[in-house]
Amino acid sequence: MITLLPVDGTSELAEHYAYPDDLTAPWVRVNFVASADGAASVDGTSGGLGSDADKQVFGVLRELAEVVLVGAGTVRAEDYRGARRNTAGRDTPPPIAVVTGSADLDPGSKLLIDTRVPPIVLTLGSAPADRRGRLTAAGADVVVLDDLEPATLLAELGRRGLHRVLCEGGPSLFGDLVAAGAVDELCLTVAPLLAGGTAGRIARGPEGSPAQPLTLVGALEADGTLLLRYRRVTPIG
Ligand SMILES: NC(=O)c1ccc[n+]([C@@H]2O[C@H](COP(=O)([O-])OP(=O)(O)OC[C@H]3O[C@@H](n4cnc5c(N)ncnc54)[C@H](OP(=O)(O)O)[C@@H]3O)[C@@H](O)[C@H]2O)c1
Repeated sequence: MITLLPVDGTSELAEHYAYPDDLTAPWVRVNFVASADGAASVDGTSGGLGSDADKQVFGVLRELAEVVLVGAGTVRAEDYRGARRNTAGRDTPPPIAVVTGSADLDPGSKLLIDTRVPPIVLTLGSAPADRRGRLTAAGADVVVLDDLEPATLLAELGRRGLHRVLCEGGPSLFGDLVAAGAVDELCLTVAPLLAGGTAGRIARGPEGSPAQPLTLVGALEADGTLLLRYRRVTPIG
């Protein structure tokens, strides 16, 4: 099905992108934008790939999410700040949960100072204690986990009742989630653009994990931008 994206159709979009009802465990939706030739960035960030439609959907996906999960590389490259708009039906935006083995995040960055809710920093005991301490002092909810495997990350989010997960990348975190078979859904914006150059793809993970079939459950188009929604094919039985 190809549907024209309504210009001001935020409620229709919310319906189009609704999470499954009554989740009892984290549901991992991943959102990426790529150029038509497969680049995940232009000049080091995804900003050059965006369009009004992509931004609109990006905002709606955040409003539907209970937590935004993102790798530290993306936070550093894109100078992440807290989500602005409230999660639907709540009076706070979703927290940003950052995966970082190093805890190398700037306590003075927008992630910490330009946010309405404290970010969650998912890290390891091997990260320098002074870095962890500075992030805690700056207001972050620093969580030391045994490892940063997808199952461990998702168990921590699930323990907090954060089931509607929106992963905004980047390629390393997405690659790890793919290898672990932990991706339920991919929202992929294809920008009408040839980026060329050496930019990487949207996923970069270990070799050898089996390819996983997806089924297309939604496709929107606006001004040449395609907004595709794929869901994992759940094995029968
Ligand atoms: N096109 C898009 O929609 C899109 C979306 C997001 C990002 N991007 C682009 O992607 C680029 C960044 O790529 P990236 O691969 O570096 O991003 P990333 O996956 O966000 O970050 C990688 C970093 O995150 C931490 N990390 C992620 N998964 C981990 C795991 N399972 N275990 C331990 N640590 C983990 C590590 O941080 P530490 O080094 O702190 O340990 C690692 O170095 C930027 O150019 C950004 O603009 C594009």
